Amino acid sequence: MASEELTQTKLATVPRHVAIIMDGNGRWAKARGLNRIAGHRAGTENLRTIIRASIKFGIKYLTLFAFSTENWSRPKAEVTGLMHILSDVIDRDVQRLHQEGARLVHIGHLDGLPKALQDKVSHAIDLTKENRSITIVLAFNYGGRDEIIYAIKRMLADQVAPEDVDEALVSQYLFTGDIPDPDLVIRTSGEFRTSNFLTWQSVYSEWYFPQVYWPDFDEEELRKALEEYGRRDRRFGGLKES
Ligand code: IPE
Ligand code: IPE
Ligand code: MG
Repeated sequence: MASEELTQTKLATVPRHVAIIMDGNGRWAKARGLNRIAGHRAGTENLRTIIRASIKFGIKYLTLFAFSTENWSRPKAEVTGLMHILSDVIDRDVQRLHQEGARLVHIGHLDGLPKALQDKVSHAIDLTKENRSITIVLAFNYGGRDEIIYAIKRMLADQVAPEDVDEALVSQYLFTGDIPDPDLVIRTSGEFRTSNFLTWQSVYSEWYFPQVYWPDFDEEELRKALEEYGRRDRRFGGLKES
């Protein structure tokens, strides 16, 4: 990277963990007279841009909400299309991400996916597990409530004593395990709700809701989000230091 470019990308505060609800693919497509799958394909192209930009800005964890536990209720053709898109992304991008030092992890239930896709995701996770330049957390077949229920079930199965249950222990039992809580959660497309995303983890995240649909959320939009984050005053229930 040219040093001039590096200076331009310098930000006062860079959140360690940015999580994105990539919303608005369908409306983006509709506005162009295209079908919804074309919107999802455009959204996937954009993913490459945002991963590259995140590495450049120095973000260490990037969580991407790609498919929720509620998205199974969409028409079968759309669900199948989304599975194919994930499969194509892995085929096309994992080698390059590996070379760039990205580690891929998954949150949610892989076992709900077609077996061939499960194997593909598992292989990508295994291939990239030693990488440390950025951790890309793929939330696919993920739901925050589902995650909490699953954690409770496993704690009960492990016969955890009630007096041992605290925030640290519950956090360990979530899919996110050792991943730090998100500092910044972005939801594109002008929708103002969490839609079951990182329910436990986002209690003290800063939230940011740009109007643009996900395929139009480019590097400049990410920079704006990071600049806004830099202006926020995070108090965590305490008082601002004087
Ligand atoms: C986000 O775009 C992608 C997924 C939820 C899989 P949408 O498909 O929700 O697009 P809109 O919200 O209908 O525009
Ligand atoms: C949230 O978007 C899930 C993802 C972006 C993967 P949705 O489009 O599914 O959420 P709702 O239905 O508008 O709340
Ligand atoms: Mg949506």
